[in-house]
Amino acid sequence: MLKNLLFILVAVSMTASVFAQVPRAKIVSEPMSEARLTTLGLSTNSVSSGAKVAANGTYFYFSPRNIANTLPVTAFTFTLTSKPAGSTATIENLLPTMVGLKTDLVGNYVVQLSVTTTGGTHDTTMTFVSGNFVGVGGFDGIAGTFPKCMTCHSSNPTFSGIFNRWKDSKHGLALKKEMTGTNTHFGPTCLKCHTTGTDHNLALVNGGFDDLAAANNYVYSGPPNPLKWDTLRAVGAGVLVNTATVGCEMCHGAGSQHAAAPSAANIAVNYEAGACMRCHDSPPYYRTFNQFAQTRHSVAVWSNSFAQTAASQNNSLGNCIRCHDAKGYINYSYGRTTNTTGWTEANQTDLGCSMCHDPHGTTNPASLRFTPSSW
Ligand code: HEC
Ligand code: HEC
Ligand code: HEC
Ligand code: HEC
Ligand code: HEC
Ligand code: HEC
Repeated sequence: MLKNLLFILVAVSMTASVFAQVPRAKIVSEPMSEARLTTLGLSTNSVSSGAKVAANGTYFYFSPRNIANTLPVTAFTFTLTSKPAGSTATIENLLPTMVGLKTDLVGNYVVQLSVTTTGGTHDTTMTFVSGNFVGVGGFDGIAGTFPKCMTCHSSNPTFSGIFNRWKDSKHGLALKKEMTGTNTHFGPTCLKCHTTGTDHNLALVNGGFDDLAAANNYVYSGPPNPLKWDTLRAVGAGVLVNTATVGCEMCHGAGSQHAAAPSAANIAVNYEAGACMRCHDSPPYYRTFNQFAQTRHSVAVWSNSFAQTAASQNNSLGNCIRCHDAKGYINYSYGRTTNTTGWTEANQTDLGCSMCHDPHGTTNPASLRFTPSSW
């Protein structure tokens, strides 16, 4: 009797799983470096971190994915369902499986994706934010005015801890170190990866270092010399300094919308390797992205066992997410646990660069993260 009941239950669930092949749509926001633009043959001239927040005037790149099962996407449609009043932005078809959205006004852009597989059709929407750069605030002793990031965030110990490490890191000092250094090749073309918001090819006005420099008639020309930093620092009573660095916004997104109405929805925290791509993917000189893409770390393994019971979420060796997810590992390194109850593959963060490197800097070689025991 019990056996029969079990058999029926198994049969029912097997039949259900045969029919449960309906797709689940995911909007993949693609990162883009100049090298990837060349590889893909795109002429948009616009780089992207793949995060939900980006500088006004730049492109977001989207591709469709079905994350419910392995059935391929046979048809898809991207629709822009909402955009800032007055915007003329549209979805552009760029490649057979990639579309672009070039923002033209600051504000929210709501994108809808509908995917079709042989198992059915599914829709999803996601909001993307276009903003202008505001600058860090407090860098190199120049406070800067509201709404720079640290004008709000300096009293929060998490933020001030991050700021204090970052300001002495190679990201913080990316311009100052090279402008006062000995590499005689350091000229104006180098600024796009050594400052905040300098345009990559596409000329835009969005509060970046290049825009503030132009507005204040400042032009950098090499070679480096310590006096050149003093000159830059004096321009417009310090107006350039808080973008004269690889600042918060190069990874968290251009922050004017967040500063105007602070919320987690309009600032990005991006664990993916794509966050680092615009600067670290520039062969033949900067090849770490390329090298990483060839390792097994770049393709995260998913197992349904990673969704664990509350009792297993204790950072022990049996707690899978401690090693199989970037955010899980970072939480572990800070002594925090990660709640994986009910997780599916959609919840997993890839094992990106910031899993091993703290982008805010550490005193370890290559800014590697500390292990929990050394905190
Ligand atoms: C007007 C004050 C203000 C300014 C300016 C500001 N923030 Fe925030 N920020 C906040 C508040 C308030 C929150 C908490 C929002 C919430 O949790 O809903 C926050 C949250 C955050 C978070 C956490 C988001 C998350 O997912 O938990 C990050 C990261 C952040 N801010 C970065 C920045 C950066 C970078 C800048 C500069 C571009 C900046 N903030 C400028 C007020 C501000
Ligand atoms: C595409 C982005 C990009 C551009 C453009 C760029 N850099 Fe860099 N630079 C980086 C990155 C990323 C690093 C980090 C270290 C690494 O990967 O070696 C770096 C590090 C450096 C360093 C310190 C480490 C080292 O290799 O000694 C120097 C010096 C430097 N860059 C000089 C330059 C000069 C000179 C130019 C212009 C001719 C330039 N950079 C243009 C991204 C860039
Ligand atoms: C080079 C890229 C990069 C820069 C520059 C950067 N961040 Fe981050 N930030 C990240 C990444 C990646 C994470 C997620 C991993 C982590 O927590 O370390 C993060 C996490 C954070 C968090 C924690 C959010 C959370 O959900 O716990 C805060 C707060 C933050 N950053 C603030 C800042 C501030 C303020 C600055 C500028 C002073 C800054 N960051 C500069 C990449 C960056
Ligand atoms: C806007 C460009 C830019 C972005 C975005 C960026 N970096 Fe960098 N990164 C640099 C530059 C430039 C340097 C080297 C600065 C120098 O030495 O002059 C650097 C240096 C580094 C270093 C060497 C640090 C050390 O202490 O030796 C690491 C590691 C690193 N970056 C990781 C990351 C990670 C992880 C991300 C993404 C979360 C990221 N970077 C995003 C430009 C960038
Ligand atoms: C201490 C770190 C750590 C923990 C904890 C951990 N793993 Fe892993 N796991 C790894 C590493 C490293 C690899 C890659 C091994 C390789 O490719 O040689 C891996 C590989 C795997 C693979 C892929 C095997 C293959 O070759 O395709 C699966 C599946 C897996 N782990 C499942 C789990 C599950 C389930 C748990 C929790 C019960 C878990 N792991 C906990 C580090 C860990
Ligand atoms: C699994 C851990 C891991 C991942 C993931 C990882 N790295 Fe590294 N990376 C390291 C280690 C360890 C070193 C130090 C190697 C050494 O000292 O020779 C390093 C070195 C570097 C350096 C040289 C820093 C210096 O000061 O010489 C840069 C830049 C860098 N990584 C950037 C990246 C970027 C960008 C990514 C993602 C595309 C990435 N790394 C992913 C572990 C990692």
